[in-house]
Amino acid sequence: MLSSILLLFPSLFLILITQTTAQPKFQYQFCRTDEGNYTANSTYKANLNTLLSNLTSNIEIDYGFYNSSHGQNSDKVYAVGLCRGDVKPDGCRSCLNDTIVLLPKVCPNQKEAIAGYDNSMLRYSNQSLYGILETRPSFLLGSGDNATDPDRFNQATRELLESLRSRAASGNSNLRKYAAGNETGPNFQTIFALVQCTPDLSEQECTDYLVRAFSDIKGSNILGERGGRIIKPSCNFRYENSRFYDPTIDTQPPPPPPSTNTTSKGGEVDQDLEIGSTESLQLDFGTISVATDNFSDSNKLGQGGFGAVYKGRLSNGQEIAVKRLSRESRQGDLEFKNEVLLLAKLQHRNLVRLLGFCLEGGEKLLIYEFMPKKSLDYLLFDQRRSSQLDWERRYNIIGGIARGLVYLHEDSRLRIIHRDLKASNILLDVDLNPKISDFGMAKLFALDQTQGNTSKIAGTTGYMAPEYVMRGHFSVKSDVYSFGVLVLEIVSGKKISDFTPFGQSVEDLISFAWRNWRDGTVSNLIDPVLNDESRSEVMRCIHIGLLCV
Ligand SMILES: *[C@@H]1O[C@H](CO)[C@@H](O)[C@H](O)[C@H]1NC(C)=O
Ligand SMILES: *[C@@H]1O[C@H](CO)[C@@H](O)[C@H](O)[C@H]1NC(C)=O
Ligand SMILES: *[C@@H]1O[C@H](CO)[C@@H](O)[C@H](O)[C@H]1NC(C)=O
Ligand SMILES: *[C@@H]1O[C@H](CO)[C@@H](O)[C@H](O)[C@H]1NC(C)=O
Ligand SMILES: *[C@@H]1O[C@H](CO)[C@@H](O)[C@H](O)[C@H]1NC(C)=O
Ligand SMILES: *[C@@H]1O[C@H](CO)[C@@H](O)[C@H](O)[C@H]1NC(C)=O
Ligand SMILES: *[C@@H]1O[C@H](CO)[C@@H](O)[C@H](O)[C@H]1NC(C)=O
Ligand SMILES: *[C@@H]1O[C@H](CO)[C@@H](O)[C@H](O)[C@H]1NC(C)=O
Ligand SMILES: *[C@@H]1O[C@H](CO)[C@@H](O)[C@H](O)[C@H]1NC(C)=O
Ligand SMILES: *[C@@H]1O[C@H](CO)[C@@H](O)[C@H](O)[C@H]1NC(C)=O
Ligand SMILES: *[C@@H]1O[C@H](CO)[C@@H](O)[C@H](O)[C@H]1NC(C)=O
Repeated sequence: MLSSILLLFPSLFLILITQTTAQPKFQYQFCRTDEGNYTANSTYKANLNTLLSNLTSNIEIDYGFYNSSHGQNSDKVYAVGLCRGDVKPDGCRSCLNDTIVLLPKVCPNQKEAIAGYDNSMLRYSNQSLYGILETRPSFLLGSGDNATDPDRFNQATRELLESLRSRAASGNSNLRKYAAGNETGPNFQTIFALVQCTPDLSEQECTDYLVRAFSDIKGSNILGERGGRIIKPSCNFRYENSRFYDPTIDTQPPPPPPSTNTTSKGGEVDQDLEIGSTESLQLDFGTISVATDNFSDSNKLGQGGFGAVYKGRLSNGQEIAVKRLSRESRQGDLEFKNEVLLLAKLQHRNLVRLLGFCLEGGEKLLIYEFMPKKSLDYLLFDQRRSSQLDWERRYNIIGGIARGLVYLHEDSRLRIIHRDLKASNILLDVDLNPKISDFGMAKLFALDQTQGNTSKIAGTTGYMAPEYVMRGHFSVKSDVYSFGVLVLEIVSGKKISDFTPFGQSVEDLISFAWRNWRDGTVSNLIDPVLNDESRSEVMRCIHIGLLCV
């Protein structure tokens, strides 16, 4: 079924050809020759035998990941076995048992080797493997036949893989990072795909490695084929136009335990509304009215450019934030609905999640997850509160905003320019992780097409790129400019707008930063609340902020 096979690896690696044995041939295999060979009667060999024969013996582990080591010092051997997320424990052990017998024969004296079948992969090495991100070798397997309408097929596949990626990375437990699903491609063909990381990776590591793995397809000879696989030591994915996985294995997050105490996590939302169809996303006005106490002033969280925001609590206890849009949208109801459905599909840990909407009697409401720690400006620009934001947190916030922005600009199914990135649009979750809010609003209000010139400037003074202010010209670069301003604010604890009331130009924080950077006096710029550690990170951020503006 999978015919074209290509290995991506540095030239010092060598592929050995499969020998004829009783076991079925591996689908992919690699013996690493530069990491040393062992001899037939060596201690290493003995340790390897012991380790492998015992690898699957722990029957209490049933989540498809085996990790073990055996031996001492330079003869210590490490091994990891990973099964596909939908393979049941018996099938997993049996597949790995086959691999365990065959791999040392295929790589007769290599200390490090990796190989596998459809259902399982085995690696061993004289170096620790657990928690180590390994991107090579990389196996690329294609189906050998082209999809009809390859462009649309690739597009649909890409969207499917991206939606599975975030599900796999967040994991349905710490023990399994796997997601599988389908999507309708061109000519109503169904595309099936699965995505998996080894469970020792963090959510972010898994996401990052999958992003890179996806890009391996681009420019490869399997692009456009109707099936493909990429297998790396730490992650893999596969797509076909027939179903190859067991859909009965639940890959959805387990439902949270029923709880009557919804504030148990400091008010963080722990129950998500079902996302999927218009029906489940559309809520009726009455429900939201009740949830917000009839939009009472005591529930008002603030007033944004597009309307007031209220805190609400659904009957199941879930806390929500409701944006009651006041501006007249130039879009019709259907367009509005379609746009909201697209926005709801944008899911990233650094974007505020859109849970639903309401469209009734001239009212347009957007319902978001509730962010207990309010917004970045609330903490950053308050002398007392800003001490909560030590450098480590600020650095995490800068990185998170950058990741959210890259997702909006490049990785999501829509190419979204935010156009109003600023400290009050960065919300913070209970752990002070940043989430970008109000993305897609410009689009929702039909202020523009995807890129170009506009006569309606939507933005906030100080954060807007000069070419946008002067000529209405915007692009992803306008967001990069705003990001730069934001980085300088985070490092300095100073508001860009603080400079304007004194009749100075809006670029003062920027020119102030630049002057001090140039004169080697950046300590003038750095928020006095921050202590001196991580100086090089702070410097790098200032440098990046300046490059962005
Ligand atoms: C693994 O073996 C190779 C070759 O014998 C050696 O150069 C390397 O240092 C070993 N690695 C570890 C972590 O022992
Ligand atoms: C290990 O053995 C392979 C052949 O099996 C050989 O090509 C390679 O050079 C050897 N590596 C070392 C480090 O001796
Ligand atoms: C391994 O076997 C060879 C002969 O096959 C022998 O010369 C050598 O001493 C043995 N080494 C060990 C460590 O037993
Ligand atoms: C084999 O695995 C079992 C259970 O995981 C463990 O108790 C035992 O010590 C292991 N034996 C060896 C020789 O490593
Ligand atoms: C995996 O093995 C390493 C040592 O080889 C150990 O430190 C780690 O705790 C193990 N992890 C799991 C989940 O078994
Ligand atoms: C796999 O091998 C282990 C150890 O040899 C054995 O206990 C187990 O029964 C085997 N499992 C399967 C499903 O073949
Ligand atoms: C698939 O398409 C590529 C380029 O579009 C072409 O070069 C190749 O011959 C096609 N392969 C088959 C099996 O049709
Ligand atoms: C596609 O996935 C959905 C669930 O997301 C499932 O209900 C449906 O049966 C799947 N379609 C096929 C053809 O397997
Ligand atoms: C809910 O959880 C919070 C935080 O853990 C606790 O302080 C509070 O007493 C709990 N309330 C009830 C009704 O259990
Ligand atoms: C909610 O407000 C509307 C008008 O603002 C009012 O007509 C209605 O009676 C209120 N409902 C409740 C339950 O207070
Ligand atoms: C935007 O306007 C400038 C002139 O102001 C023009 O040169 C450019 O082509 C326009 N770009 C788009 C995408 O319309």
